[in-house]
Amino acid sequence: MATAIPRSVETGEALRGPRYTTILSWFRDFRSDPIGFMERCRNEYGPVAVYRAPPGRGFVVNDPTWIQHVLETNADHYWKGRMMKRVGNGAAGPGMVFLDGEEWKTSRNQIKPVFVRSRITEMTRHMSDAADELTRRWEREHLGGEPFELFREMSITALDIAGRALFGVDLGERKAPFSDLMTQLLDHSAYLVNHAFVWPRWVPTKRNRAMLRAGARAFETLGWAVEERRRNPTPGPDLLSHMIALADDPANEFFTERRIYAEGMTFLVAGHETTGATLAFALALLAQHPEAETRLVEEVDRVLGGRTATREDVKALEFTRRVGSEALRLYPPAPIIGRECLDEDEIAGEPLRDGTAVLTSPWVVQRDPAYWDDPERFDPDRFAPERAAGRPRYAYFPFGGGPRRCIGEAFALAEIPIVLASVMQRFRVRLAPGRRVEARPLFTLRPHGGIWVTLAPR
Ligand code: HEM
Repeated sequence: MATAIPRSVETGEALRGPRYTTILSWFRDFRSDPIGFMERCRNEYGPVAVYRAPPGRGFVVNDPTWIQHVLETNADHYWKGRMMKRVGNGAAGPGMVFLDGEEWKTSRNQIKPVFVRSRITEMTRHMSDAADELTRRWEREHLGGEPFELFREMSITALDIAGRALFGVDLGERKAPFSDLMTQLLDHSAYLVNHAFVWPRWVPTKRNRAMLRAGARAFETLGWAVEERRRNPTPGPDLLSHMIALADDPANEFFTERRIYAEGMTFLVAGHETTGATLAFALALLAQHPEAETRLVEEVDRVLGGRTATREDVKALEFTRRVGSEALRLYPPAPIIGRECLDEDEIAGEPLRDGTAVLTSPWVVQRDPAYWDDPERFDPDRFAPERAAGRPRYAYFPFGGGPRRCIGEAFALAEIPIVLASVMQRFRVRLAPGRRVEARPLFTLRPHGGIWVTLAPR
């Protein structure tokens, strides 16, 4: 395994990277192919590169040691940056993903108790129920052999799970339209980070008006969920009842009613497409790798014997979990994680000043041959403990790292094997003839043109 010494330390040379005439020309290049840009930097200039784009410059960090430095060890010298701030300025104001400083810390601390292990364990029964409902619906609707699109299906399922487990409500008929709205809002987030100039929200452009309408419809559903939960205040492990209790506490000045909406929206967006995409990519990978598919099905049959998977089964579904991990390696839903330097720092001997952008990429590092043998190959056993030993911590970081590491990681890592096992227990998923799987990074990583599949019963 290669050591993670950045090139400048090895050679003593200044860090290199692409040069642009202006920040706008950098932006155009980056926007046309964000992952391609990150890969070019890694391949042509090494694991730490510096691009020059007057009046500034930015760091492209694909070295595990320095990623750890930025996300974890020196995290308090960085913030999420101006682009994320732009995205977070939605109708209810920014939720946790987009906050920084004291506001972020307070929000994270107040919400953290929902994501302790015991509460997630309680929530997993909703994952089993939603997976059951999905497979029953597929039996009714998709066994005729007609191709259908898997990414949307899995996103709707992930939203169903988020609705039940995080909000304590059954979204019912609202699921599909709400999931489509979330997708539209995420598309808009991609637009906001990929354009140097955007009209402020209050300027009535066609796009802004469409987004206001989409936002208002999403808030309507959220408002319905809040009302439902208030009308039916049975105690539960869910995030929404926790937030309502925080907002109803007169001593809590931070957690207002508005914050319920800001965080509610953020958690639904952050928690549904990411998991939906992982499930869709994992099923597509299994469809293309019959040996792995057979192993997974054998495991599922042995562990479950025809039952629905529950939290208690997750540990025993070892290969199924590895398939999920490998899908997250090859298709990390957050393919690029960015920060902006707050004051001053140094990376690989090079100084950064206030405002310098730093980009890191799970996609690039998780496919770097320095850390992964034959990296393009689907090989779930890479996550067997003996093969994972010795790999640098940040050679694999689909959930980020440090204080801002994904708060929903344990939730997602329970949901993925439960849903995968339920689907594979009943169906054989095949890619529809003539269809390919291609990833496309927008704000999150999505399958380009969707993932079209057919189903057969097992
Ligand atoms: C496969 C599924 C998921 C992946 C790959 C994923 C990935 C990530 C990553 C990479 C970050 C850190 C971003 C950064 O440092 O800039 C993050 C943060 C976050 N995620 Fe996830 N996530 C997933 C599922 C979820 C779920 C299920 C939830 C909610 C239950 C969730 C809620 C959040 C929140 C609220 C944050 C912000 C945390 C903070 O800033 O303190 N995520 N996620």
